[in-house]
Amino acid sequence: MSLLLAMTGWHVEDWRARFQALLPEMPIVVPGEPFDRRAVHYVASWKHPAGSLTGLPNLAAIFSLGAGVDFLFADDKLPEVPIARVVDPDLTTRMSEYVVLHCLMYLRQQHRYMRQQQAKLWEDDRNQPAARSVRVGIMGLGELGLDAVAKLKVIGFDVAGWSRSPKSVEGLQTFSGEDGMKDFLARTDILVSLVPLTPETRGILNAGLFAGLAQDGRLGGPFLINPGRGGLQVADDILAALDAGTLKGATLDVFETEPLPVESPLWSHPGVTVTPHNAAMSEPEAIATLVAAQIRRLEAGEPLLHAVDPARGY
Ligand code: NDP
Ligand code: OXD
Repeated sequence: MSLLLAMTGWHVEDWRARFQALLPEMPIVVPGEPFDRRAVHYVASWKHPAGSLTGLPNLAAIFSLGAGVDFLFADDKLPEVPIARVVDPDLTTRMSEYVVLHCLMYLRQQHRYMRQQQAKLWEDDRNQPAARSVRVGIMGLGELGLDAVAKLKVIGFDVAGWSRSPKSVEGLQTFSGEDGMKDFLARTDILVSLVPLTPETRGILNAGLFAGLAQDGRLGGPFLINPGRGGLQVADDILAALDAGTLKGATLDVFETEPLPVESPLWSHPGVTVTPHNAAMSEPEAIATLVAAQIRRLEAGEPLLHAVDPARGY
């Protein structure tokens, strides 16, 4: 019985070493080396090449090595076995660090001071809004969205959230579905996108949505932070909204094509901050420990944790 590590863009040997230490009895195999496909009972994947998981007759489960699973459902030859994703405090904490960091960058006008430093310009217009006067809207009240909410509230931001199904969260104004979208956007100065990429959410960060964001806020216009998925955003609409002033700034960690192509205008637009899809990286130590524990659960006849629903797509 073996575990197949199928990943692109990550250092597979780091993962193999970690998994081997945790599962010493289990061969850890990787594509490109000969292995017995009938022996593969488990796959741990991060963006495996579509179609490459066929011909594994004894496969029992697929583990996404990230919180997102959109790359799995994009594979139309994906074997029909249970799928689990990452839900882990290490990853969640990293994402909240990213969200808090970039909300504070906008609150405290840090991009502007970095530009001023380049120009050796000492300029302070004595306009520093308090966090409590800035309205952050979190799209997606799941594992990551709810943790970000809690940490933003500690800083003092005026936070609300939006999700697919109605939610009741103590101390949080919540909105849901299409009906709740308009009011949610109208009270949002900084929009943080933490919804999964599904057929329903593809392209949701578009011109129509940006036009609904608050224009009367203390930051002088709305900002977008997207560490969710590149497919959620329409890049041309972001650029147009920045040029028109409908958006005042955008921080993007994820892109339709990654790495972001050098010719993309997102790289050089003064209103855009680009990070290389590392808002919440999957750290092998923490995440292999989670997956190894899942494998041990299955081997013991216990149910999988954090299973995803293929019908919902997340
Ligand atoms: P969860 O599944 O826990 O939460 C998803 C949330 O989004 C839920 O609240 C869900 O609503 C909501 N949602 C889903 N579809 C819709 C919709 N159509 N309309 C409105 N709300 C919707 O996911 P996580 O919080 O764990 O992760 C979120 C995403 O973050 C991942 O899918 C991944 O794409 C991204 N991510 C990015 C990383 C990075 O480094 N950039 C790292 C990790 C994750 P409901 O509560 O009603 O189900
Ligand atoms: C994830 C990611 O989904 O890193 O975990 O994007």
